[in-house]
Amino acid sequence: MQRVPLVLGNWKMNGSAQANEALLQGLLESLSPEADAALKQGELQAGVAVPAPYLFQAATRLRTSGLFWGAQDCSDEASGAFTGEISASMIKDFECQFALVGHSERRERAAETNSLVSRKLGQLLSQGLMPVVCVGEPLAEREQGSAEAFVVEQVRAATKGLNDQQLASLVIAYEPIWAIGTGMSASSDDAQSMHATIRQELAQQSQSAAQAVRILYGGSVKAATAASLFAQPDIDGALVGGASLDATEFASIVQSACPGAQSLH
Ligand code: 13P
Repeated sequence: MQRVPLVLGNWKMNGSAQANEALLQGLLESLSPEADAALKQGELQAGVAVPAPYLFQAATRLRTSGLFWGAQDCSDEASGAFTGEISASMIKDFECQFALVGHSERRERAAETNSLVSRKLGQLLSQGLMPVVCVGEPLAEREQGSAEAFVVEQVRAATKGLNDQQLASLVIAYEPIWAIGTGMSASSDDAQSMHATIRQELAQQSQSAAQAVRILYGGSVKAATAASLFAQPDIDGALVGGASLDATEFASIVQSACPGAQSLH
């Protein structure tokens, strides 16, 4: 099955109104005409997950571009007395197409559990937003040889109870924790192997949905390594942290995912 390649930047807690303006402008100017056309025709998807206070700025700046914008987290509640939280309907209000859930930095710092991540995902689906569910093992699990079991459990818990259509609309981002912000990307073979395992797990629920789900790789993705990752049959794009703060570097990663840029699956 042909899946539309997807490259998302995660700005994390970086930026300012002024810096974002320059970064978004730089990104729009750096995209090649081929990538721009592919984005506008829906043959390629790319976007940025910005800090919530800048969603309005992203919407204003990107509305007429082919790029997506989204949030980095969302509440597991629809509305009410939850100080500091941001609901899926608020994210939708800013015309976002997607939001991240379950990023390892939130699982670690905010003690997010698999069941909380699953409820957040449900909120996004109820608003018609595309959830990007982040999973990935810590170094100790990889060293013990239990990385696959760890990630499969995260995927299973997040997708429990979804119908086939909901499952097919998900994006999963495999981000091994040891590769995030370390400069130590997983090799394209190791990433492919985990992506194939994730797809097999999804196929237990629905064969057709498993073929539709985009599985992104994240963890020290750079322009220099993107093409070899994207050439793998089960790697459908990337979730990019640090390199998404550099307009030309990020544009180059987006271009590597452009159909025709490489021998695509
Ligand atoms: P880096 O690309 O900086 O390693 O971050 C990856 C990440 O956590 C994206 O969500």
